[in-house]
Amino acid sequence: MKKTQFNIKQLVRKNILHLKPYSSARDEFTDFDQDMVFLDANENPYENGVNRYPDPQQKSLKKIIASQRKVSETNILLGNGSDEVLDLIFRAFCEPGIDNIITMPPTYGMYKVLANINNVEEQQVWLEENFQPDVEAILAAENSDSKLLFICSPNNPSGNLIEQKRIEELLDRFSGLVIIDEAYIDFTDRKSWVEGILRYPNLIVTQTLSKAYGLAGIRLGICYASEEIIDVLNKIKPPYNVNELTQQRALQRIIEEDQIKDEVSAIIKGRIQLEEALSTIDFVEKIFRSDANFILVRVDDANKRYDQLIKNGIVVRNRSTQPLCENTLRFTVGAKEENEKLIQVLMTISKS
Ligand SMILES: Cc1ncc(COP(=O)(O)O)c(C=O)c1O
Repeated sequence: MKKTQFNIKQLVRKNILHLKPYSSARDEFTDFDQDMVFLDANENPYENGVNRYPDPQQKSLKKIIASQRKVSETNILLGNGSDEVLDLIFRAFCEPGIDNIITMPPTYGMYKVLANINNVEEQQVWLEENFQPDVEAILAAENSDSKLLFICSPNNPSGNLIEQKRIEELLDRFSGLVIIDEAYIDFTDRKSWVEGILRYPNLIVTQTLSKAYGLAGIRLGICYASEEIIDVLNKIKPPYNVNELTQQRALQRIIEEDQIKDEVSAIIKGRIQLEEALSTIDFVEKIFRSDANFILVRVDDANKRYDQLIKNGIVVRNRSTQPLCENTLRFTVGAKEENEKLIQVLMTISKS
């Protein structure tokens, strides 16, 4: 069934549609080609590198990201981590106490937390046993107040990519916005959905510099969508949501493309070696196929194995309380020595 014509204005909360956004000093005066004296933002004039407010539109950073990802700068919004981007999406499109969102557990826990914070009902449609979405069940759960559908691909915590055909079907048939969270996309060969924003007006893709780019500490998340959607999010974002130090550090790092590629290759190699080693551990019952920088593993007794790892100085994530994840541990792929230590400890405890 084909949905009716997509109209973003029908999805935006009414108060946001009519909102007059805050206009910052740096937003108001941008058109200068000579050395200006800036006495407009009540800053301290003595230079120390960060005494001025940052660029609210992060133009230099967007320019590079746009050229690397082959989209226009007007299709990009940057945030204080992708968690901020996700929160902005809730606040722009979900009417508290009325609207709902659809998530597909087991998946990234922040979708649910953000729904709770924003007083938006979360409808859960579990992934199938193979961690792929049940398209018909999702569409059956959808109602006229369903505003957002979250697809995490590669999915956290299972590590798998979501099949392209199922995503296409959801994009074609879900009436609200479809958010594809690509936090781990750089660890797979599969193409990003970013260029899909030109074909699907209801698509939002989120990415982050926290994983492959090695910049979790600076907090930089990226949102790609149609200009119309980006305009709405721009209206409600805090004026200076990406600080100057983050912008500078991201600019330095994002051009180190070879270095980033080498690190990603090393992580993928580490993942393959870890998978091989894990298959020799007798209490490991299943290793789920991963396209990310972590591996989900089913063990005989996750609580017991988790405690044993902690006693040996290794912290992993116990995902056993998640749907379909009984007795599972999630191992992030570390540096070579860290992976070796993990394997050595797993071998030792398996013999005890
Ligand atoms: C699927 C997924 N999306 C988003 C995030 C958060 O990213 P950021 O650090 O950009 O807020 C994470 C972090 O673990 C994640 O697993």
